[in-house]
This record gives sequence, C-alpha cells and structure tokens, in this order.
Amino acid sequence: MLAGGSHWRKSSSVECRRTTADPRPRSSYQSLVPFTAAYGFGARVVSRPVESSKAFEHVLVVGAGQMGGGIAQVVAASGRRVSLHDAAPGAVERGLEAMRKSLTKLAEKGGADPDEVLARVQPADDLVPADLMIEAVIESAPVKADVFRRADELFAPEAILASNTSSIPITTLGAATGRPERVIGMHFFNPVPVLKLVEVIRGLETAAETAQAIVQLARDLGKEPAEAQDFPGFVSNRILMPFINEAVYAVLEGVAEPEAIDTIAKLGFAHPIGPLALADLIGLDTCVAIMDVLHEGLGDPKYAPCPLLRQYVQAGRLGRKSGRGFYAY
Ligand SMILES: NC(=O)c1ccc[n+]([C@@H]2O[C@H](COP(=O)([O-])OP(=O)(O)OC[C@H]3O[C@@H](n4cnc5c(N)ncnc54)[C@H](O)[C@@H]3O)[C@@H](O)[C@H]2O)c1
Repeated sequence: MLAGGSHWRKSSSVECRRTTADPRPRSSYQSLVPFTAAYGFGARVVSRPVESSKAFEHVLVVGAGQMGGGIAQVVAASGRRVSLHDAAPGAVERGLEAMRKSLTKLAEKGGADPDEVLARVQPADDLVPADLMIEAVIESAPVKADVFRRADELFAPEAILASNTSSIPITTLGAATGRPERVIGMHFFNPVPVLKLVEVIRGLETAAETAQAIVQLARDLGKEPAEAQDFPGFVSNRILMPFINEAVYAVLEGVAEPEAIDTIAKLGFAHPIGPLALADLIGLDTCVAIMDVLHEGLGDPKYAPCPLLRQYVQAGRLGRKSGRGFYAY
C-alpha cells in the first residue's frame, strides 16, 4: 500500500504546481549529480587566505536537537568549551546521550575519548554569554529572532552570533540585533560529525572579518566551508528541497513505493541515501518549514511543499525523530 491516498492525485495543489512556468529545463535542477555534489553544487569553495581569526574559546550552542547536539559535539571535540542550552526540559540530556553514542562509535575508529569531549560541554538553563553563539533551534523565524535579540543583549559587543538555519534570511536575524555586522549563517549538515560541508552565509550587513573568522573556525572543526549569498534556501536547500519534494510527489501520485524511489536514487545516482530516507533524517517538519520559506521568499509555487508532506507532519510523522515518516524506525 502506498503511503499517499489516490484522493490526492487530482488535487488543485498538484495541478497548480504542474502549471507553474519555469523557464529552466527541468533537468537543470533534477540532474543526476552525485549526492555529494548536490550538497555543494553552485557554491564557491572558499580558498582565499584568511587574514584574521578568532579563537572562540567558549561557544554557546542554542538548541540541543539533532543539529545542536552534533554542533556542540564537533566544537567540543576541537578543544573548545561549549555551553549547551535548550528550552525544552530534558532536551540537553537527550542531546548529551546522542553525543555519547556518536563519540563512542567514532572512538572505535580512533576518535577522541568521549569522556574528554563531553567534559567540555556544560548544560545551561538559559542563554549565557560566550565568544560565539551558534543557534540551532527549530526552523521558525520568530523563534530564532527572539534568540538573537536576547543573545545580543547578553553577549559582549565583539562576540559573533551565528545561525544554523536552513533557509531563514540571515539579514532578518541580523536586523533583530544591534550588531548585524557580526551576525552570520553557519549551516552544518546532518549528521554533523560526519558531513564535511559548512555553508557560510553573509547577511546584507555581515562584515568580511566575521565571514573570515567563521570560515577559519569551520576549518578548525575539520570542515570545508563554502560561501553562499543570503537568498532563501541559500544554495544547498534550494537544490535539495525540490529534489525531496519531487520524490514525495512520486509517492503521492503512485509512481513507486518509497523503497523503490530511494533505491533508484541510491543505485542510479550514486547517492548514499535516497531522498525519502533523507527527508526522514532531516525531519519532515523541518522540510516543510524550509519549503515554506523558499516558496514565500522566491515567490514561485514550484517550491510549495507537497500536500502529502504537510499531512505527514500534521499526523506527527516527522521522520526518524518521531519514529515514523516515510519509513518506521
Ligand atoms: N535536520 C537537519 O538535517 C538540518 C540540517 C541543517 C540545518 N538544520 C537546521 O538546524 C536547526 C535545528 O534543526 P534540528 O533538526 O536540530 O531540529 P530539532 O527539532 O531536532 O531540534 C530543535 C531544538 O530546538 C529547541 N528549541 C526550540 N525553541 C527553542 C528556544 N526558543 N530556545 C532554545 N531551544 C529551543 C527544541 O526544544 C529542540 O530541541 C533548524 O534551523 C534546521 O533548519 C537542520
């Protein structure tokens, strides 16, 4: 039985999407690029020398979900002190538990001692001042803007405020503070300890020194930075989300079972994971939030989330984090 019901097939949103005029050939954004290239496609890999760097000895990570936990882990593994804050009771403890599991696996392959890394992570009941904030709360512009506003009041003027947002304009987050020149996007990829890319996004007012310091930090963390402009979805999700959305439409329209769709992407395009399994990993709620930003920000209905994706979120099927999405976990 396919996950989507046939009643969706002639829905007006499907029709609306299909009539969207897109001057580009569809193959230009559905091309069979290898998965790794899809993550970095179109972005300029930063290779210019960095003139200034900051040590960022103490980093506050806000949000201890799958991304915040991963970010706290790689920052602590680099020898820095991390404060980890989450608004939800028990979230930091769950984040620390996930970090221990990941660090234990990495230690088996010669990685750092998990106890040593975890000793550098301090749970924080509220925001605490640090040299750098990396915000990784839910993909909601008002929630993120509120975190930036509060951090701006608390942090020393020279501190940098970064967001791991997938799609929300960095310029908007900068405008919530009195230091837009020190606000930047530092977009990690999931799972953070494994994937090398950090997309670095400058808002309209972000200073060059801020970008250079964050590029240098990404390298210190063993990552490869690539710069993108502050457009909705930046580069990565502008490419990835239409790909995922198209796979969801293929489920909805009964073209194939989720397993077959993912097998086609894995074996046909040499992707390590299919688009539906990837959507489950990202979180279907996060996918919908990103697509809403792309849709609104770029003004093209082709970015509107597939109704089936929205329905899964309404049903609480958020993917791996809730135990069920396109697959059961
Ligand atoms: N999931 C991915 O694959 C992925 C990849 C790159 C970037 N991102 C981005 O990273 C961010 C976090 O995504 P995630 O997948 O970790 O989500 P998640 O749902 O796993 O975690 C979000 C956490 O934020 C916490 N939170 C919510 N409001 C808060 C507040 N006001 N203060 C402190 N904590 C708060 C929640 O309690 C939750 O623990 C989002 O902006 C998302 O777009 C996600």
